Amino acid sequence: MNNKEIILNMLKGKNDYISGQEICDKLSLSRTAVWKHIKTLKNEGYEIASVNNRGYKLVSSPEVLDERHIKEYLNTKWLGREIIYFPETDSTNIQAKRLGETDHKNGTVVVTKMQTAGRGRRGKSWISPEGNIYFSILLYPDVRVDRASMITLIAAMAVAKAIREIEGLETMIKWPNDVVADGKKLCGILTESSTDLEYIQYVVVGIGINCNQEEFDKEIRDMATSISLQTGIEVNRSRLLAKVFDCFEDYYETFMKTEDLTELSGEYNEMLINRGCEIKVIEKGQERILKALGINEMGALIVADSDGRTENIISGEVSVRGLYGYV
Ligand code: BTN
Repeated sequence: MNNKEIILNMLKGKNDYISGQEICDKLSLSRTAVWKHIKTLKNEGYEIASVNNRGYKLVSSPEVLDERHIKEYLNTKWLGREIIYFPETDSTNIQAKRLGETDHKNGTVVVTKMQTAGRGRRGKSWISPEGNIYFSILLYPDVRVDRASMITLIAAMAVAKAIREIEGLETMIKWPNDVVADGKKLCGILTESSTDLEYIQYVVVGIGINCNQEEFDKEIRDMATSISLQTGIEVNRSRLLAKVFDCFEDYYETFMKTEDLTELSGEYNEMLINRGCEIKVIEKGQERILKALGINEMGALIVADSDGRTENIISGEVSVRGLYGYV
């Protein structure tokens, strides 16, 4: 750690003013040298109050998404303990899959601020401007192939919960894995896995969260939103991302105990925006109106027709829409 970082840590460790003399003594620096470091920190976006006879006080930190800042907030045991950070990359899923091929550590996360070839579901692209979070989690779950889709549902729960707790925004999930607020999409998840007969070699869970984006292309304007558009407050992305890792690790460990959603479906269903609603189920070009009841322990959506007959809908095979729009 260099002197500037030590000064920053001293400021972060105290909620009150810290005298210039105390900093000088600790680092054996002159007052001018300390002042120069404070000036550099201010130029980096730290708001530091300085008052005669009292010293310096950290008022706020800049909004920075990078490995160091994420780790400052992180409480996980294994998830995100290794972060591969790119200021910009083609797609974090592409990068994470590359790591998966070389047996990189379980729970490694690739993070970026901007993607030039972001990928969405159904072969679509995921426009990835600056201001948001784009990341992919690399996992080696020792489970059968048919379990992989449930990890996507867990990811949606983790994002929805983290946004609720950190940003105070009432997020919901549109089955299977879109996180929404105010009926619009806030986050998309693309899970890709490499399999070997019945077992999974690795899974990459790619997540894009719209954090500070202010404008959307007109094709998606009615369907997409960002956290800051909803709350009016800039998102501290490193803090939010660390919380997503915390929530994901907890949910994932619960999932791995039973290798299904037995212990999580109740919580998922409470977040499910379609629950109890009529939805349009589109399968092989055919549309049916059914009532969504909730998910079962395998993550399938249980729906009922007008006679009360129920059936299970499996993600990937059908598309689900609200009757009057996206949710
Ligand atoms: C969707 O279509 O809803 C899924 C979008 C997934 C986007 C994320 S952004 C991070 C990761 N890298 C990608 O290229 N895609 C996923």
